[in-house]
Amino acid sequence: MKIEELFPEINEIEDSELREKVKAVWEYAIKKGGWENFDLRKIPFTLLIETKRDLITHTRTVTRMAMAVARERGDVRMDYIIAGGLLHDVAKLLEFELKDGKVVKSEYGKRIRHPVGGAMLAEKFELPYEIAHIIAAHSKEGEFVTRIPEAVIIHHCDFIDFHIEKGRL
Ligand SMILES: [Fe+2]
Repeated sequence: MKIEELFPEINEIEDSELREKVKAVWEYAIKKGGWENFDLRKIPFTLLIETKRDLITHTRTVTRMAMAVARERGDVRMDYIIAGGLLHDVAKLLEFELKDGKVVKSEYGKRIRHPVGGAMLAEKFELPYEIAHIIAAHSKEGEFVTRIPEAVIIHHCDFIDFHIEKGRL
């Protein structure tokens, strides 16, 4: 499946170079994680809780919620919001692996959490450092730095989606 079909929001990134790089990161992570023949919509977005929510739905929801917040604020860079939203969890494709038909934590994932792995991917494809920062700082790693406004938005939208799922009975 094409990245644009998985994530239609990617077409709303105005900067074509940034758009292509976001796509390239996803394509690379799919290959590196060995997910080419697996429906990505069957990967849970987290292994921390029992959930039916998949990584693609979560990623799109976080991105779209963040875009809505950004529109209301009117003073943040929309391209960074979309790119950061779409990439914040891309390294879960490396943090997780398929074992006996089940999605489990990989050896890589036991050593390198997805905010770090994702920031490394952003660097590898020469995305602006702000995107690496949004990815690196979207979870608890971000408590050790000062988040840029776009990173504050992605962080909170990510946790809205996570906490709603976590609170389900
Ligand atoms: Fe997330």
